[in-house]
Amino acid sequence: MKVLIIGGGGREHAIVWKLSQSSQIDKIYCCPGNAGISELAECINVDDNNFEALANFARYEGIDLTIVGPEAQLSKGIVDVFEKNGRKILGPNSKAAQLEGSKVFSKDLMKRCGIPTAEYKVFSSYLHAEDYVRMKGAPLVIKADGLAAGKGVIVAHTVDEAIAGLRLIMKDRAFGEAGNRVIVEECLEGEEASFMAFTDGKTILPMVSSQDHKRIFDGDKGPNTGGMGAYSPAPIITPELESFIMEKVMLRTIKGLQSEGINYKGILYAGIMVKDNKPYVLEFNCRLGDPETQPVLSRLKTDLLDIALAIADEKLSGINLEWKSGASVCVVAASKGYPGAYEKGKVIKGLDEAGTMDDVIVFHAGTAFNKNKIVTAGGRVLGVTALGKDIKEAKLKAYKAIEKIHFSGMHYRKDIADRAINRFSDDFMTDRKQPRTQKREAP
Ligand code: AMP
Ligand code: GLY
Repeated sequence: MKVLIIGGGGREHAIVWKLSQSSQIDKIYCCPGNAGISELAECINVDDNNFEALANFARYEGIDLTIVGPEAQLSKGIVDVFEKNGRKILGPNSKAAQLEGSKVFSKDLMKRCGIPTAEYKVFSSYLHAEDYVRMKGAPLVIKADGLAAGKGVIVAHTVDEAIAGLRLIMKDRAFGEAGNRVIVEECLEGEEASFMAFTDGKTILPMVSSQDHKRIFDGDKGPNTGGMGAYSPAPIITPELESFIMEKVMLRTIKGLQSEGINYKGILYAGIMVKDNKPYVLEFNCRLGDPETQPVLSRLKTDLLDIALAIADEKLSGINLEWKSGASVCVVAASKGYPGAYEKGKVIKGLDEAGTMDDVIVFHAGTAFNKNKIVTAGGRVLGVTALGKDIKEAKLKAYKAIEKIHFSGMHYRKDIADRAINRFSDDFMTDRKQPRTQKREAP
């Protein structure tokens, strides 16, 4: 079989790495890929926003299945174009991808379906939004409706910050049309976790839980990033919470979409805030998390191709997921300046030394070849991931590995997974039993 992966980040390297272990696959293509991916797949030079060209490539090369990594292509309708061309593809179509592409769509769905989430109001007029913010008072969260490359959410601790956020989105149009509407939302306090599931629109198969670290600096300081590290499992997601999330969030979402004639196929990712042991949905994503995918897929035993084909063919009820027990930790190495402007082209040393350590996988994100040297080519450069019998051990191995790697201006957080290690007792640190998966059917 031949597969094509769309994307070129750490998440896509993890997908390609996992698929490369499938005995059923003859060849993997990736568009655009990166230096690490090119060791396992043929990286192709097709415009990844030209869906007709990609579908033509898939037809010409006889590609059996395409898997889409990033949300942008899903929102813009890559799945619709591939399906129109009779090509098998994994991911929600553009209607279903509104779950991530429009925060108003997803909040309204949550409200209709009784899915626990923060109180909110939607505005298309700046003046009405400002009045509401002044009336409510801080803290508040201001959200642009559309996709804004992860920058469209402002957690405002004062009324002035909230109004500055409204101005940025609605007046300065920092995110273009994504700012036609805003959500002003109650600010929730608690601990965040990522809950991802595979679904074919009927069966929902949860993955092991994970947690990422959004801020750039240790101690959750500094601006938000795409994610500076992640670990799995997330001890905050107890089996009781998992059951609750499956019932009250995942199942209700899939059923709610069904009742609107939308068959959601692909990955359903709920960003959860756990407050007083109760989960609230902060957002839905229609794709795998980055960097959560790196620790999660490194624990998956089941052949990812079987899962992907079962989703595309709507036969997911026949799949049972198997996971490695223990834990996995991913530490991201970023370029100096990220998440602001950063330099590229710095030579990366120590990749082989780190990559050959036991239980370590060095996933590439923003990397490229310059002649025969691997150089930095993005803000997030690598996701050094290690498996261990528990989070403590996995963390130790990941940090031992990242210490072997160097590039000019390299920055990484030193406290990835400490939150879990410090807050929970040893009993919580390990999935000693085979992790359970609570398969659910949406009739
Ligand atoms: P979102 O894209 O909606 O997940 O928002 C990005 C980040 O903003 C989340 O990961 C949270 O850290 C934060 N956030 C979003 N909504 C809220 C909320 N209602 N209360 C507190 N923090 C939030
Ligand atoms: N790491 C957060 C995300 O993928 O949205």
